[in-house]
Amino acid sequence: MTGTPVLAARDVSMVFGGLTALSEVNLTLDEGQILGLIGPNGAGKTTFFNCLTGLYTPTRGTVTLRGTRLPSDPAAVTVAGVARTFQNIRLFPSMTALENVVVGRHSRMKQGPLASLFHGPAYRRGEQAARDRSLELLEFVGLGRVHDELSRNLPYGDQRRLEIARALATDPSVLLLDEPTAGMNPQETEATRQLIFAIRETGVAVVVIEHDTKFIFSLCDHVSVLVQGKLLVEGTPDVVRGDPRVIEAYLGKPPDEVEAEVRHYADETADHTQVIELDGGSEGDKR
Ligand SMILES: Nc1ncnc2c1ncn2[C@@H]1O[C@H](COP(=O)(O)OP(=O)(O)O)[C@@H](O)[C@H]1O
Ligand SMILES: [Mg+2]
Repeated sequence: MTGTPVLAARDVSMVFGGLTALSEVNLTLDEGQILGLIGPNGAGKTTFFNCLTGLYTPTRGTVTLRGTRLPSDPAAVTVAGVARTFQNIRLFPSMTALENVVVGRHSRMKQGPLASLFHGPAYRRGEQAARDRSLELLEFVGLGRVHDELSRNLPYGDQRRLEIARALATDPSVLLLDEPTAGMNPQETEATRQLIFAIRETGVAVVVIEHDTKFIFSLCDHVSVLVQGKLLVEGTPDVVRGDPRVIEAYLGKPPDEVEAEVRHYADETADHTQVIELDGGSEGDKR
């Protein structure tokens, strides 16, 4: 099913002191859609996710899920059906992969905290079901074999996938991914692209923030470009890719040329141990 809005942001603005991080941003996510959100560092992408998930209360504007206004409370937003991952990974490092996913599952379960005091049969059935579903999700993201590993011992790419499994454990209708391929090699990036397609197949609509424009243009049905807190352009990948304002304001040059230049610069400066920060900016999801 496509064409029905599931998530809608209307005129969302976010002001921090004197800084306007978002200015009247609109977004409509349809059922079955994969929407890409791109823009330079500091454009307000993470801040926008924080507004969509109740972590921040927008200064102005509204966020609705299937027409119902979402509360300014992250736990309630999760229960309503919006799940996310974070630009800077947030896992429980001393818990196993499976335990991390079970935690996500718990945010969805009906039994209250008292149930765990009594450990009755209903409680045990619930726990078993949570484990079974969590294992299934680990298989789904390709981590079934490492379910017993402590999450801190997993390679970086696996930790990112584990975060996705934990988000999926909340049974979302919308999944928000903040830079899911950051730090991944090309093979892992491609596996993540395929995973996002598979997630869409399960009926979850997805919004993805990424810097890798090739990844975004080959993944998304719709792309929104945020620059200095404002929506600059939105449309199909073809429309966005060809828009002169995007090329000028965001890419500066065609993506291939930009990448070639970055590689060249990296080679030139390798001897001087200079670090090129493509995304070293602030992360609005730090609290
Ligand atoms: N909690 C906050 N307090 C003050 N400024 C913030 C906060 N969160 C984000 N910002 C600012 O908002 C702007 C957008 O940041 P961010 O949303 O992280 O951008 P992006 O994710 O596009 O790189 C930045 O100037 C950042 O410093
Ligand atoms: Mg960000």
